[in-house]
Parts: sequence; structure tokens; C-alpha cells
Amino acid sequence: MKRAFLAALGLATTLAMPAAAESLKVGLLLPYSGVYAALGNDIDAGFELGLKTFGAETTATFEILREDTEVKPPVALGKAKKLILQDKVDVVAGIVSSGVLGAVRDMIDGAGVPLIVANAGNDEATGADCSPYITRMSFSNGQVNRPMGAWMAAQGIKKVYTLAPDYAAGRQMIDAFAASYTAAGGEIVGQEFTPFQKTQDFGPYLAQAKASGAEAVYVFYAGGEAISFVKQYDSFGLKAELPLYGSGFLTSPLYVNAEGPAAEGVITALHYVPTIDNAENKTFAEAFTAATGRVPSEFAVQGYDAARALVEATKTGAADREALARALRQVSFDGPRGKTSIDPATNNVVQPIYVYETVAGENGLTQKVLAQLPAEADPVNGCQMAPVSN
Ligand code: PHB
Repeated sequence: MKRAFLAALGLATTLAMPAAAESLKVGLLLPYSGVYAALGNDIDAGFELGLKTFGAETTATFEILREDTEVKPPVALGKAKKLILQDKVDVVAGIVSSGVLGAVRDMIDGAGVPLIVANAGNDEATGADCSPYITRMSFSNGQVNRPMGAWMAAQGIKKVYTLAPDYAAGRQMIDAFAASYTAAGGEIVGQEFTPFQKTQDFGPYLAQAKASGAEAVYVFYAGGEAISFVKQYDSFGLKAELPLYGSGFLTSPLYVNAEGPAAEGVITALHYVPTIDNAENKTFAEAFTAATGRVPSEFAVQGYDAARALVEATKTGAADREALARALRQVSFDGPRGKTSIDPATNNVVQPIYVYETVAGENGLTQKVLAQLPAEADPVNGCQMAPVSN
């Protein structure tokens, strides 16, 4: 209606911004420095590979502008403003930290720029704070931890101690695990949240875990913190006595070789491991290793699938921001992680979850899949999605 009215006045073209239709500016908001720098670089490499692999399927072309969020929400907000207001990007992709996602959410929603989340699991971004402009191709914090509660209880583990960094992701991951674990009859005998980006010595927390009477420990740590934690856990002599479990970022293939033998036997769950046996994953893993010399991680696949989702959305003819946002919500494909689709009720990805054990392989540590748990859409968690205006 509004557009027809403006068209009559000859103003519709400025409103719809179709000029960028075939050449889209993509702002990549990622940590290229700080504790999550390696994660950001892997997402970036996956995104580039995704555009290279699928780009020919669309007539759109993509210009990438990169900004370093570090792991600092106020820095990230400044960079988001630059990309949106100054560089006038058509779409933003990336974001690793849940804290950063929380900080940029209102800016993205208010500006009406589509955001493809390529990591940050912040539950609220696809729950109470959902937005028709925010689509997540990675995971939610609840989604990757909830299944492990029931799974561990089913293994007969009755008492668990939990640890995680003290910020949004740590709290949400542990809450989701604890809720499903206790619902299945398990008991959380103690928990601690460690100062984020500041904890170098986990010793005092490990002493508490040991004294708690737990039969196992469940944690979330990622990046540099995961490497220190896993190594200290082993050198503290806890692994044999108190088996270590967690969300799979703990032993990500991106840095598991830096953890070394300390990671062997750790059991975790995630939406992707490079050993998933399907044709899409074989193609992706070979191409990623050829391009980077690395085995692909969950971060790499998230970048790759974010680029694929963008290509899919432009294939529908979507050119302006509103049409792109609408098309992103309908993306669905068979990818390296299995069937991958967006739940239009929350804009969060729906995907299987893999329980895996880190084991010694021929070429270093590898991921042995113990169970594939069925894909489940997240609860809507208060998300009320306003329709994207026409
Ligand atoms: C997050 O902050 O949401 C986050 C960061 C690193 C991960 C997973 C989640 O590996």
C-alpha cells in the first residue's frame, strides 16, 4: 500500500533501495583479536568458501567489509553502527559472543538490516528479543546443551558439578543443561561461574568440583579458555576420577590439538563435527582443508552455511533488506550437519545434535560420534515475531 502510494508520487525507488540488488555489501562482524579470534577467523574462512562454492547459483555478487568486534560488546556496537550507517551494508553476518549479540540486537532491529548470526548462541535473540531481521544459522545456547542433560542422566550419571565463564553464554548453556538433567532425575551438586576472559588458574574451582561429591563435571568453555581448562583439568589428575563432559566447543577440532592428550576421553555434544558421515560434509571438509590446511570446525561450517543461506535468499530475487530478511527466514537445505532449516517461529536454526568423544586418531585427535540426537526446534521462549514490512 505504502509503496503503491509512494510510487504514484515517484518516490518508491528511494524507499525500496533496489540499487544494490545485484551487488550486495556484506558486513562481517567478527572477533579477529581476543580470546575468540581463532573462532572468528574460522567463520571468516568458512564464509569465503561458502560464497565461492554457492555464489554461482545467484546473479547477486558480494562485497565483504570486515570489522573486528574483539570480545567487547561496546566495541562491537560501534563497529555495527559504522557498517550500517557509514558503509551502508545490505546485510550483516557473524558475531561470536552472546554478549556482543545482546549489545547489537536493538541497532540491527531498529535499522532493519538483516543479520545472519554465524555463532553467538544467545537464547534471547531467538526468544523474547527475537527480530524478523535476525536469523541464526549457528545454534542457540539451549539447543546444544539441553539434549546432554537427558543423555547423561540416561547413562546413569546421578550427580554433576558445572562450570562456565560468567557471561550470557556460560549462564544460558549451563541453565539449559541443568534444567534437562534435573528433569531427568539428575542432581546438580554444585556450580560456579568463572570470571570471563580473566581466569588463568582454574585450580580453586577444580578443588571445589573434586570436593563436591559429583560423579562427573559438565562445562562450557571455548577458544583460549577451553585450551587452558582442559589442560589444567588433566594435570590436576581429575579426568580418571571425575569424567569431563560439556558442550562440544570445549574440544572443538579448531583447537583440540593444542589441548593434546588431555582432551582424550572428554565427551561433549554439538551440532557439527567433521566426522559426520554424509556426502555434503565430505565435499565441504575436503574443500575447507584444501583452502586452509585445517579440518573444519563447527565455526567453519557456521560461516559456510551463513554464506549459503545468503545465496539461497538472493536466489529468490530478494534484493532490498526487507525482502532479504523475509527470504532468510525460509532457508532450508541438506548441508554438512544434516538437514538444516530455519524455524520461522523464532528464526533459529533446526538441526540434529551429535554426542561425540574426543579420541586419538591416525592424524591426531578426532571426533567419534556416540549418538545422533534428533533435531528439535527451540521453544519460542516469548518470541513474538512482527512481520517484516512490505
Ligand atoms: C557465545 O558467546 O555465544 C559463544 C561463544 C563461543 C562459543 C559458543 C558460544 O564457542
